[in-house]
Amino acid sequence: MRRSGPLSGNVQVPGAKNSVLKLMAATLLAEGEFVLTNVPAIADVETMSELLGALGVKSKWLGPHEISLTNSGNISTEAPFENVDKIRASINVLGPLLTHYGQALINWPGGDDFGGRPIDLHISGLEKMGATIEQNLLNINAYAKELHGAEIELSFASVGATENILTAAIYAKGTTVIDNAAREPEIGDLCNMLVAMGAQIEGIGTSRLVIHGSKKGSLRGVRHAVINDRVQAATYIAAVAIAGGDVQVRGARPEHMEMVINKYTQMGVSIYPQRDGLRVTAPERLSAIDFATLPYPGIATDYKPLLVAMNSISSGVGIVTENLFPGRFRYIEELCKLGADIRIDGHHAVIKGVDHLIGTAVTAPDIRAGAALVVAGLAAHGETVISEIHHIDRGYDDLVGRLSGLGADVTRV
Ligand code: UD1
Repeated sequence: MRRSGPLSGNVQVPGAKNSVLKLMAATLLAEGEFVLTNVPAIADVETMSELLGALGVKSKWLGPHEISLTNSGNISTEAPFENVDKIRASINVLGPLLTHYGQALINWPGGDDFGGRPIDLHISGLEKMGATIEQNLLNINAYAKELHGAEIELSFASVGATENILTAAIYAKGTTVIDNAAREPEIGDLCNMLVAMGAQIEGIGTSRLVIHGSKKGSLRGVRHAVINDRVQAATYIAAVAIAGGDVQVRGARPEHMEMVINKYTQMGVSIYPQRDGLRVTAPERLSAIDFATLPYPGIATDYKPLLVAMNSISSGVGIVTENLFPGRFRYIEELCKLGADIRIDGHHAVIKGVDHLIGTAVTAPDIRAGAALVVAGLAAHGETVISEIHHIDRGYDDLVGRLSGLGADVTRV
């Protein structure tokens, strides 16, 4: 890819990776057919399909963004290592398998390597609901004849723990309360599908979820549209901010992106809500900002690489604090290869804006960092070559096609 811009035209935001994978896992809760629409064409959806296929849920594409999943009731409760190892969301089969089929044997999940990614909150929550959970270095074996409701207060608003406890509560006897539940819009999407399936959930979108257990097996398959991806939307806004231009980001949901939109605005980007998304125009030069990552509604850790890339060519100095994943700064070395001036100190990064970046060969270390390197490459003088792009393919539906549709000089080789 070469220095690009100004970008123009419009781009459609695809469905959210962090929602679709959880919706797919929830098909283990009910027999019948599910149809998911607005499904992003990403590698992780294929991986989740393979995992569910190995467990007994058959999937088939009905169109480019529509997938059918059928749970015929003949389900294995042992998740194969090779599927679980590829994606973090594989852990989301734990709650549904346990509550519906009484057992789940699963190895420690893989996914992006951000340093330690424990699942102690998933486990302690499920234990409080009556599960017995044996853990060793290789895997987790959870079983329970019947789960019961419980009052669970999460010490941290973990997305994955909230989702596993929520889905486990669906067939638990009595009522489960999750306090300090994560509030990410993707969890709201999962709750909405569960309600359509017949579940009884109160407090959707808040930090206190109340789930009244249903009779085992009483939920049904449904048709559901996946929520649009706020991180992919943020990526296209960052692309315009960095390369310049005037672009409509169709399907961006500003109500899910308030804080990050504030930050973009502070940097000088103009963002106008429209009937079907956002119109984005870039300033002559961005201004550096400070920010810290936090659970929703705070600035998501998934936005951080984009904002760091933007800071790296802004005027001024920005200080960034990572509060979720201590190891999530690995891409900074790659940005520095492009000429960025960034110093890391523990979980802080200090970014001194430079006049411009210079294209060179870099490596994508994970999904969002890979996308941020692409976005940074749009502003770099000369050619930027990014390798290990299979990481980007895990979560981005045709990033290259969408960017080149806006006029960016980017090709897949
Ligand atoms: C999900 C997203 C990921 C996003 C993250 C935070 C998916 C597939 N991944 O990951 O893209 O960056 O939310 O928004 O949806 N923690 C514990 N114990 C636990 C669980 C989590 O200490 O049992 C800690 C983690 O180490 C981390 C923090 O809680 O520091 C947040 O993790 P969590 O919200 O669970 O993230 P994931 O669900 O893994």
